[in-house]
Amino acid sequence: MTVPSGATGSDYYAQVFSDSPTVVASALSRVDIIGGHTDYNQGFVLAAPMPLATTVELSAVQDDVERSNGRIRIEGFSTMTGDRVARSVPSSPDLSSHDRRGDWLDYVVGAVRELQTAGATVTSFRLAVSGNVPIGAGLASSASLSVALLRGLGQLFSHMLEGEILAKTAQRIERIHVGVNCGIMDPLILADGSLENALYIDTLSLERHAVRLDPDYSLEVIDSGERRRLAEVGYNLRRDECQRAARALGVNSLRELKGDEQDLSDLPPPLDRRVRHILNENLRVQQARRALEAGNYQMLGRLMHDSHLSLRDHYEVSVPALDRLVDECLSSGALGARLAGAGFGGCVVALVERSERGAWCARIASLNAKAHIFDSCSN
Ligand code: GLA
Repeated sequence: MTVPSGATGSDYYAQVFSDSPTVVASALSRVDIIGGHTDYNQGFVLAAPMPLATTVELSAVQDDVERSNGRIRIEGFSTMTGDRVARSVPSSPDLSSHDRRGDWLDYVVGAVRELQTAGATVTSFRLAVSGNVPIGAGLASSASLSVALLRGLGQLFSHMLEGEILAKTAQRIERIHVGVNCGIMDPLILADGSLENALYIDTLSLERHAVRLDPDYSLEVIDSGERRRLAEVGYNLRRDECQRAARALGVNSLRELKGDEQDLSDLPPPLDRRVRHILNENLRVQQARRALEAGNYQMLGRLMHDSHLSLRDHYEVSVPALDRLVDECLSSGALGARLAGAGFGGCVVALVERSERGAWCARIASLNAKAHIFDSCSN
């Protein structure tokens, strides 16, 4: 896949600040093959990095006035929003309050605070953010930004984080500093995954296994053109429903329940449907890993479609545009298809035989004028 020029280059910083950046860092995006909404229930997921990326270009700047006032000045430009913004924050974080303002600098301030807490000394700096990960489309744009920022700022202020620690720190940026109670799947895939393999993750132990993707098959990501609506509200509500269900069933998390043998008859609707989805989805992820390892792509495709139906009917996070696109993927010859990420709009991921890809894309284009197919994301 070709990343559009500028997305990984270092020319935005130079254009905006008439200077060269000291550090350039980036992070990929991800596509979840199966395991919808299981990560915050300590369940299983199977997902892969996708070659769309966020890039940050950074330089420290001398700012004696801010420093003598005990403050750090952050000046930034983002091609995603097209705006140039600045914020001055106290050098020593006040951990009892947030600097949250509701714009993209919240991620930057979050990364600064997290690195400071980890022991870094951070001074005033400038940054340019660019990339080609669509925002709010279910491809982990927020995690991509958080991981890119931690890598860039980590390099600039000599405090590099990696693997699990990088992932957990990126998750905290979103949870604490941005206010979205996301799971660990996205940052862990971006911190640890490679484009050659999918990662099977047990989100309870954080144990990970690389699973090879056969080059004769491709994972196609199609944007429905429908932007996510009510995603944050719906996402946090589902989390809350799962917690209420766990409490009612006397467990700490839904992971402790016994798969398809669990009696859910005492749970009021819709909690029973939510739990049914999580239990079955965890089983599907484990079956999907075995199917991939055995090269059984027909089975993987069926499991992906079952996952979509369950996300639609039991978990209720789909929307008509996604259901329609999933049907179109299947009627055009995909082995399976499901909504990507949190749902509520955004993208669909489909499993397609590589030899069929050209004809398949043409069929989708003739059926759905709004659909945008990204370049193939598995090799
Ligand atoms: C979003 C979250 C993830 C995960 C998915 C749903 O992408 O960031 O942690 O919960 O939704 O599987």
